[in-house]
Amino acid sequence: MGDPRDEVQPAEILRALFTSDAADNPYPHYAKLHATGEACHPSQWSSVFVTGYSAIESALRDPVFEVPGATGLDESFPAWREHPSMSKHSVIDLNGAEHTRVRGLMSGAFSHRRVASLESAIAVTTADLLDDMAERGANREPIDFMAHFAYLLPVIVICDLIGIPQADRETFRPLAADLVAGLLGERRRAEDALAVADAATVRLNDYFAALAGERREHPRDDLVSVLVQIHDTGDGRLSDAELLANLNTLILAGFLTTTNLLGNGLWLMLSDPPMAAGVREATIQAADFVEETLRYEAPVQMTVRRATAPAEIGGLPVSAGDQVVLLIGAGNRDPRRFASPDRFDPQRPDPGALSFGGGSHFCLGAALARLEATIAFPALLARFRAITAAGEATRLPGLAFRGFESLPICLA
Ligand code: HEM
Repeated sequence: MGDPRDEVQPAEILRALFTSDAADNPYPHYAKLHATGEACHPSQWSSVFVTGYSAIESALRDPVFEVPGATGLDESFPAWREHPSMSKHSVIDLNGAEHTRVRGLMSGAFSHRRVASLESAIAVTTADLLDDMAERGANREPIDFMAHFAYLLPVIVICDLIGIPQADRETFRPLAADLVAGLLGERRRAEDALAVADAATVRLNDYFAALAGERREHPRDDLVSVLVQIHDTGDGRLSDAELLANLNTLILAGFLTTTNLLGNGLWLMLSDPPMAAGVREATIQAADFVEETLRYEAPVQMTVRRATAPAEIGGLPVSAGDQVVLLIGAGNRDPRRFASPDRFDPQRPDPGALSFGGGSHFCLGAALARLEATIAFPALLARFRAITAAGEATRLPGLAFRGFESLPICLA
């Protein structure tokens, strides 16, 4: 029998961590959890929480821990099948052989060549958005970096990647925003957020089905055309439902995450002008700055797995069916893995953050997200001599996604 006092402490820290105040700064809570071990499972909590870098990394690689997918939802939310936005046909929700099959097809379509071919489009979009910001921010008029840059660049890049025609983009953008709203259900009532995401999914599915039909007739060099060809090989390699679900997942997985990376990076520069000067003068490489931003302020702070059999994690026994919460944001600040983890150091000799996950579900868009941010930050600094904070920034609600709703700035 362990000392019952051992259990009290993590339970209290977790309670504090999951209050809305802590979402502003979860790091002191993570530090306290690190002091208690790599994982904890207080008796009052239904999930196991994993905070240690090495335990998170092992769990991501261990097939005994599956993404919850359909099985997990059957247990936690049996009505999920009535909600179009909760379709579980995409790569991010599949396990085992099904995941390997769909992931193989998706990563073929998402090749290095395709990502590299987006580079010039990203540079052009960035320059256009910066021109627009310059106009809006003339005479030091405060503007919101999130609304006028960080929320726009990633979704335009996803349109370029998928192959959404210019003429359709004004219709597409609000649908993408509504789809993502489902992820942030905490601010509205959760049911309302789900209804908004469901309606957006139905319209996006109709839109993507029509676009797929168009590309079947007139293929282009875009991701929809490649996925349609894979779908049409006739051996059932990518079903209708999988085609649509994976396109929706690209929006869900690629939009808010990259938006947060851009917002977090700018916020760090605003808080540390000498560091911003280093990036501006290229004494700090943009790629190093982006990598450390990803570690220090992980856009995705947590992901979830479900144990399919009795197992062990961070020295703790886990039962079959247990939900396991992997606190990526905490793993990135684990003092057992990173020297002075709470210091922002773009030149740190020990990179290797968990921000894009790991193992078989490692982020398919990591190269694309890095490319966007590595183009955007130097362009932003080159375009404006001075960028300063202009009032209070508003953070996203909740702990799962770390970023800003608004980040007002003045430009010169
Ligand atoms: C900074 C930006 C991004 C971050 C922090 C991020 C983070 C992540 C993480 C943590 C996972 C693993 C989830 C898990 O194992 O449970 C993941 C998976 C994924 N991401 Fe990203 N992501 C980013 C950008 C993107 C972009 C731009 C795209 C595509 C346009 C994308 C597409 C995906 C897909 C398809 C998966 C699922 C892969 C699979 O399940 O096999 N991500 N991402």
